[in-house]
Amino acid sequence: MEIRITSLAVILAVLCEVLTETEPEQSTSLFPDRRKAPGVKSPKKCWWTKEITPDLHVAGRPTERQIKYAAEAGFKTILSLFTYPDSEPRQTFGGDPLPNTAEAQKIVEEIAGLKFITLLDPMDEWASVEAVEKLTKVMPSLPKPILLHCDRGYTISFVTLMYLANQTKRDPSFKPGITSDDFYNISAAMGLDFISRIPQEVVSEITGEPVPTNPTRPNTVPEDWMDYWVAHPVYKNWYTAGQITRSHLPVMAEVGYKSVVNLRSGIMLDGKPNQEEVNLLNIKDATGTYAKGDREPRQWKARLEETRINPNRPNHFISPESKVNYESNNTEEFGDEVGFQETTERVAFLKSPLEYYHMPLDSKSPMYGVFLAAEMSQLLEISEKGPVLVHCASGKRAAYVAVLAAAVQYDMDFDWAVRRIQELGFEVSKNKTPEIYRTYVNWLVTRRQPKDEL
Ligand SMILES: *[C@@H]1O[C@H](CO)[C@@H](O)[C@H](O)[C@H]1NC(C)=O
Ligand SMILES: *[C@@H]1O[C@H](CO)[C@@H](O)[C@H](O)[C@H]1NC(C)=O
Ligand SMILES: *[C@@H]1O[C@H](CO)[C@@H](O)[C@H](O)[C@H]1NC(C)=O
Repeated sequence: MEIRITSLAVILAVLCEVLTETEPEQSTSLFPDRRKAPGVKSPKKCWWTKEITPDLHVAGRPTERQIKYAAEAGFKTILSLFTYPDSEPRQTFGGDPLPNTAEAQKIVEEIAGLKFITLLDPMDEWASVEAVEKLTKVMPSLPKPILLHCDRGYTISFVTLMYLANQTKRDPSFKPGITSDDFYNISAAMGLDFISRIPQEVVSEITGEPVPTNPTRPNTVPEDWMDYWVAHPVYKNWYTAGQITRSHLPVMAEVGYKSVVNLRSGIMLDGKPNQEEVNLLNIKDATGTYAKGDREPRQWKARLEETRINPNRPNHFISPESKVNYESNNTEEFGDEVGFQETTERVAFLKSPLEYYHMPLDSKSPMYGVFLAAEMSQLLEISEKGPVLVHCASGKRAAYVAVLAAAVQYDMDFDWAVRRIQELGFEVSKNKTPEIYRTYVNWLVTRRQPKDEL
């Protein structure tokens, strides 16, 4: 017995050595960067943006609020791939109106104060060399970072990656270099299928490389997850998100999600008040929910005035009728007069066909090891029912939980999980995230090993 314990210890020691060498390095990432969480300066407000390079982020068609959030996160330009004429019927996202081009231009330029541009005319072909040429032409004149969007983030990802591929073909020293292989690998990592739906010859013409025989394919279930484009695909039926809004529920149900797991704290956690913040227009993140010392609660008037992002914003940044230039509550994101109100979100789910699970994980000091030891089996059970969306405030806790749960469920290894986390804009490493690192090692190396040996 003692000998067995010793040999196990040796195996573990050797494994730890191996793991030190497999510490993530930036060069292993598919993406040119992604060292930061999605959302530039405000991951809580703009978690739904997808970084391709630090200057180029893609998204689906934004609501008025999302345009304002993009301005607060530091985007300088909003580029709409398509033109949405006034004559077209009004589109919505789960009931939230989507501004047409004339309205969007007004919101972006006059209210949010950013540059606005539309790329294609209504009759233009999008999966084309011409679309890429148009982007190439305007790119140098646009202030960066740019939020580029189409309807669901699909088409614009194609055009943006092809723009980078063309630059790479013209100038091999162009950074980030995107080859044909990179194009298929990056789009697969984003859960986007450009193999079945796009003429491969267009890709080949732009990259100057032959049509690949066996390009990397995405592995998302359902394939049409993009109708709820704000989500981040993790693997197969696992997805992550930041704070969802009321309007998202019907869209998620239609796409085919079966379950939603909310990791945010309720009003109390472990018997103590632990309410998280709700997003507020023109108010900074992380100002603290409650009073503390001389500090007033986050949503009190004096405190709101003190924590404005831009004290000079006009009142109409909030709404045409607003008497102040900041927001003091946000019921769309399930906020009350103190902060995020989990009960309100839970009640909203009662009226939807989606199963809702609340598994609070403290935002300030999340203990992933303890949390996953307690919740893993339930997470796996939930996943057996079909597509599952794990959400928190910015998508960070959700990423750490969903990647590990997917790895355990589908028997993916430690290296896969570390790379996948990096592709989502986060990090698992011994030095920067030791608690998460130990938890990942525990589930994907220590526990996995005996299974392999059987
Ligand atoms: C590729 O880049 C060159 C140089 O910037 C440009 O002249 C050309 O129009 C681009 N082609 C496409 C397909 O974008
Ligand atoms: C693309 O992915 C395939 C399959 O995972 C891999 O073999 C190849 O090396 C990758 N290419 C690049 C440029 O990352
Ligand atoms: C909520 O915000 C709106 C507009 O920002 C404001 O008119 C209203 O008084 C606020 N309600 C509460 C309860 O603070």
